[in-house]
Amino acid sequence: MLDGKRILLIIGGGVAAYKSLDLARRLMERGAAVRGVLTPAGQQFITPMSVASLTGDECYTDLFSLKDEAEMGHIRLSREADLVVIAPATADLMAKMAHGLANDLASTILLATDKQVLIAPAMNAEMWAHKATQRNIETLKRDGILMVGPGDGMLACGEVGPGRLAEVPDMVAAIEGYFAGGNRPLMGKHIVVTAGPTHEPIDPVRYIANRSSGKQGFAIAGALAALGGEVTLVSGPVSQTTPPGVARVDVETALEMDAAVKAALPADAAVCVAAVADWRIKAGSNGEKLKKSKDGIPALNLCENPDILKGLSAMKEGRPALVVGFAAETEQVIEHATAKRKRKGCDMIVANDVSHTTGIMGGDSNQVHVITETGVESWPTMSKDDVATALAKTIADALTK
Ligand code: CTP
Repeated sequence: MLDGKRILLIIGGGVAAYKSLDLARRLMERGAAVRGVLTPAGQQFITPMSVASLTGDECYTDLFSLKDEAEMGHIRLSREADLVVIAPATADLMAKMAHGLANDLASTILLATDKQVLIAPAMNAEMWAHKATQRNIETLKRDGILMVGPGDGMLACGEVGPGRLAEVPDMVAAIEGYFAGGNRPLMGKHIVVTAGPTHEPIDPVRYIANRSSGKQGFAIAGALAALGGEVTLVSGPVSQTTPPGVARVDVETALEMDAAVKAALPADAAVCVAAVADWRIKAGSNGEKLKKSKDGIPALNLCENPDILKGLSAMKEGRPALVVGFAAETEQVIEHATAKRKRKGCDMIVANDVSHTTGIMGGDSNQVHVITETGVESWPTMSKDDVATALAKTIADALTK
């Protein structure tokens, strides 16, 4: 897959720098030639010796090295590559790139290169969330820089949140994806997918839920990522594994899902597959477990949850170019779903019959009707994976036409 490809790997200063040594090996196993550049901060974590030994090439560290500049000028270094990869890309490196600074070897290469750059950010969660970093990311995306990760989870600093360097297989997949080119029509597109049920607490031990397994939503997120999309998957409580290349945000309630979707914007497309609970228990419980009492059965005082799909469809500014909903119906599937598409204001609705006899909810196969403004397409019964692949292609066609 990567036979003969030349990759310039810039290693920034972060605890995760050791993972880029593994990345270099995995790329070389696939036939790539890797040349390393180690920033001064990167050298606090790994040494030029390990980079040079593993890549079998020199490791470049200094803009003003007379020897390096005589043998291989930084301009040549930046051009003699098919792809420039930064892993880990620190907040500092990203800020320099966004502002066009060129005051050391890595930033000078990044300004001088005429090749595609792919970054794998890694930093503390607060640094990642900081407005300045988010602004820089927007700038970099607009400049056409590709990005993989960061993942969510335990960080080296002991905090938990987004900022983990993407896993090595995900970085390899993103690099292979870049070289696969034509088969990745969603490259550079950000897509938010919701999946699974929501849990609406009644008291500290009980909740309202539904039978959604998350299978279809996870399969769609995976299929979109396989076409090169940068996918944020906002998932309710499920026991599904996150597909490769997908950034997952776990939530419990509809309110949390709504907030996580909003936080993930801007996006080129949103695909709402989640079976969001329509109602939640109105606030007012004192946080204690409900007890049986002589006064009879307690009434569940419900109020309406935000409609995430409708909210996205109605956005005045920054609306995703394509908003896709799902319609779970038990009778008159096409008629109800057609009306639902109009009511919710989305561009496309994927309707399925979830009545008990179909076994769709929680099952492995699905039969859907894809409804847009221009008509209805009824697809044959397929596995949920095949529905996901076909739907990802339909979404890619709609986004790239
Ligand atoms: N949806 C959502 N937020 C909600 C409810 C639903 O985003 N609070 C989305 C679902 O993800 C799905 C679509 O809306 O894409 C349809 O949901 P569905 O439950 O089938 O429809 P309802 O709005 O509940 O309408 P009805 O109860 O009339 O079937």
